[in-house]
Amino acid sequence: MTRSTPRLLLALCAVPIAWLVATGVHAEGERPPAPSTIPGIDQLAGHLAELVPMCVACHGENGVPNYAESPIIDGQHEGYIYIQLRDYKNGSRKHEVMNEIVKDLSRQDLRELAAFFAKRPWPRLQQQAEEGDDVVAERLASAGMCKECHLGGYLGDGTVPRLAGQLTSYLVVTMRAFKTKERANNAAMSSLLDTYTDEEIDVLARYLGAL
Ligand code: HEC
Ligand code: HEC
Repeated sequence: MTRSTPRLLLALCAVPIAWLVATGVHAEGERPPAPSTIPGIDQLAGHLAELVPMCVACHGENGVPNYAESPIIDGQHEGYIYIQLRDYKNGSRKHEVMNEIVKDLSRQDLRELAAFFAKRPWPRLQQQAEEGDDVVAERLASAGMCKECHLGGYLGDGTVPRLAGQLTSYLVVTMRAFKTKERANNAAMSSLLDTYTDEEIDVLARYLGAL
């Protein structure tokens, strides 16, 4: 291990190792990018600058996620990112790896990380929907008043996340998790998605991912 290897990555290897191996982070022997190559990283406190290469090993060095279940966080709204990190820390949003990563960070650390990722450009994944998805999805979305909160173009604002162009495979996972309450940090989203079938969630995810 080189000096630039984040200490937390080492710690993580010892804990949810099965998860990391399963997702390939460790198994493929990928080396996180050197911190100095990441723009803006010098404005972060030293211990956070050490963490960022690990974050981007999953969430993507240029914002394009490396794993099907890792969301885009670059260019997401600062308020929303902060709330998610806070919820992973207080355990109201559960995910083995994310809970572990933020557990020893202060609120100020979480704010700094949120501001850092929010300033990076949102990547374009150029995902395709299937023929006819738009008609069905727009009907489903208007029944659920999705745009009332997620706003025009599904671009979100403040503590409401941008959905447009988010990784489709992640949108499926997280909407199903809201529905089953495995993701239990927003009761309104859970009760709303409870009214949709898994197939309807898939259509919504493909439509939103392709925007
Ligand atoms: C080993 C891979 C991995 C690492 C390392 C990692 N993440 Fe994550 N992150 C994920 C996955 C997978 C999810 C989705 C978890 C879920 O479904 O709740 C996630 C979720 C998130 C979310 C929620 C986004 C949303 O749209 O709701 C944020 C914010 C986040 N991570 C930030 C970070 C930050 C900041 C770091 C570094 C300090 C980091 N992550 C490190 C894999 C990772
Ligand atoms: C009453 C306002 C409201 C409505 C209506 C609403 N949402 Fe949400 N949605 C939110 C908020 C707030 C969050 C962030 C929850 C959190 O902090 O975890 C969210 C989160 C999400 C997420 C998670 C994004 C991520 O990055 O993890 C998805 C996906 C989503 N909403 C889809 C939808 C869809 C599809 C509809 C319509 C069927 C919808 N929402 C309707 C307020 C709303």
